[in-house]
Amino acid sequence: MQHILEGNRRWVESRLAEDPEYFHKLSQGQKPRYLFIGCSDSRVPGSAITGTKPGEMFTHRNIANLVVPTDMNMLSVLQYAVEVLKVEVILVVGHYGCGGVAAAASNKQHGLIDSWLTNIRDVIRLHETELLRIHDEDQRLRRLVELNVMEQVRNLAKTNIIQNARTKPNPPQLHGLVYDISEGILHDLEVDTRDLDEFSHIYSTISKPAAPLDPQVQAEVQQQLQQQHSKGKKQEAAQATEQNEAKQTA
Ligand code: CO
Repeated sequence: MQHILEGNRRWVESRLAEDPEYFHKLSQGQKPRYLFIGCSDSRVPGSAITGTKPGEMFTHRNIANLVVPTDMNMLSVLQYAVEVLKVEVILVVGHYGCGGVAAAASNKQHGLIDSWLTNIRDVIRLHETELLRIHDEDQRLRRLVELNVMEQVRNLAKTNIIQNARTKPNPPQLHGLVYDISEGILHDLEVDTRDLDEFSHIYSTISKPAAPLDPQVQAEVQQQLQQQHSKGKKQEAAQATEQNEAKQTA
């Protein structure tokens, strides 16, 4: 514990040496541009690996950087980041060598976390064909790390928080990245959530208002309705005459 407190004092000194107003400025409030959703792994601290400063990045971390649609913790962070802080960019950041992903790829029990890891097993099932084609186990796990990030970005797009934000100006951009611990480099996976548009009839939580009819089409529809109406009237009149005639003959 002493180590932590000493480290803190040294850090405060170094901040103040650079800018005597540093902590005063930070205490005025936050306006972060980024939301970082990453793995809890101690080797992947969001601020350090992106060179961002305190105040620039709102952060949510869990094992294997999952975006689980029933996770109240993640949803609360997401809603606050999007609707109150109005972050411009959301980053889902995975990393090669992720213990959570490796555990999900094994058929072993790891205790409580097995339920959490089911979310990654679902990613394996979705992409099983592609994964089975990769014979080298390390390469297969690396690809699973990437596919997991991609699915978590798609999961963001499935939330009503992101869907609502996309009906307004300047919705946050969604990005999926993977961090290579062995070299320190972040790679952009260039995830395009538009491939989810194909399934908007399933995932959209917003019913699209019916497009207003073209005035000419509207006039044609009106005319058809009137014709049907007067046709009906004529038929009714004809039936009534027939009935009357029948009565008279009887
Ligand atoms: Co990890």
